Amino acid sequence: MEGFVIEGGTPLTGRVRVQGAKNAALPILAATVLAAGTYEIHDVPQLTDIDAMCRILQSLGAKVERTGHRVTVDTIGLNQTHIPDELMSRIRSSIFLMGPLLARLGKVTISRPGGCAIGKRPINLHLKGLACLGVEVAEEGDIIACSAPELKGAEITLDFPSVGATENIMMAAVCATGETVITNAAREPEIVDLAAFLNKMGARVQGAGESTIVIQGVPKVQATNHSVMPDRIVAGTLIIAAGATGGEVELDNVVPEHLESVIESLRQTGLAIETAERGLRVQAERKLTGIPHIVTTPYPGFPTDMQPQMLALLTLCEGTSRVTEKIFDSRLKHVEELKKMGAEIRLEGDTVTVHGIRRLTGAHVCATDLRAGAALVIAALNAQGRSVVAGVEHIDRGYERLDEVIAQLGGQIHRVALKKQ
Ligand code: EPU
Repeated sequence: MEGFVIEGGTPLTGRVRVQGAKNAALPILAATVLAAGTYEIHDVPQLTDIDAMCRILQSLGAKVERTGHRVTVDTIGLNQTHIPDELMSRIRSSIFLMGPLLARLGKVTISRPGGCAIGKRPINLHLKGLACLGVEVAEEGDIIACSAPELKGAEITLDFPSVGATENIMMAAVCATGETVITNAAREPEIVDLAAFLNKMGARVQGAGESTIVIQGVPKVQATNHSVMPDRIVAGTLIIAAGATGGEVELDNVVPEHLESVIESLRQTGLAIETAERGLRVQAERKLTGIPHIVTTPYPGFPTDMQPQMLALLTLCEGTSRVTEKIFDSRLKHVEELKKMGAEIRLEGDTVTVHGIRRLTGAHVCATDLRAGAALVIAALNAQGRSVVAGVEHIDRGYERLDEVIAQLGGQIHRVALKKQ
């Protein structure tokens, strides 16, 4: 087990490039299953979740080579339709392979992904959407076996704009006969990136980024190359880290439009954020003030993936703020950890009330999930004294060497081995 030892109080300053987006790279890697061929995917972040996706592709018969941030996937010999349970349990994104495997080989068997630290996370919308395309779904205990001799275009209305279900259905529909219309689709930028990749393969996907996506089925698609979009959540995390330490940071490889709701909230606190040559510049020039109420909602609303980090910042903003988590049913475990650092913070149901204090105090805390971990790092960078953030394996799922990025900006952070408790 590893942890970060952080000595708080140094303002982050300098310039860094933001990594490619985990949540775009994962479905794009899954989509390489669609057509037999060799793909080159660039700007793929080096993360344990990406390692797991590559291992799944290999277990299905693909060849995967990684050089730095370039991943070459050869799916010519891919012939397996069962995703091993051990890999299935490692990353939930393994369900992204359902759509592409059904499109290419007509069947797929998976074990049901369980709940996780941030909530129950069922896959009913994925299964319902695939069933509309003609997929037969047989569930026996935790095993889900799907088959589809032929996929047929359909009109699918999602009960909730699920990111994963939208992506899975899009990938399954690419080579279905006729037209598929997804209504109440998720609008996240990662869906736009996946659509761009699919269209480069020869698919006909229109409307990605809007609530209605139309996919005209094509008989065949072929392998292509692609560069993954910048990670908007990593960018947001670094902006907040700069803010919480009273620093000044420039970020390259950012699409400011992807962060509109986050930037709007951060400007409300008093952080100065401007567009820069290749991204954004952030400066904490004055005392920050709280925000009456932030509610997480699907894109373009305030992202759930930024809620823990925002909460960490609000513990330091003058006045009272409230944050409500509406996307996941159990994504507020960091509240207890922030309390250990002296935060004046109270959780009631899905809403957190925060009274800003001047400075947090170093403590031993534990990351319960990826974004909670990022929030604790931010808090520790502000705190007086030394903190130890355990559970770094969660952080490594989504942030590429976060400790090195922060150290590059002058933060006092070290990765250490921790004894198992
Ligand atoms: N939901 C259902 N049924 C389904 C699918 C989803 O009820 O079939 C519910 C979920 O339980 C949740 C809500 O719908 O309450 C939103 O889930 P969604 O499907 O949109 O999320 P996801 O596809 O599982 C992706 C990201 C998450 C991010 C969410 C929301 C990837 C690989 N993961 O998950 O990223 O929080 O969208 O934006 O794209 C992270 O990076 O830290 C992370 C958790």
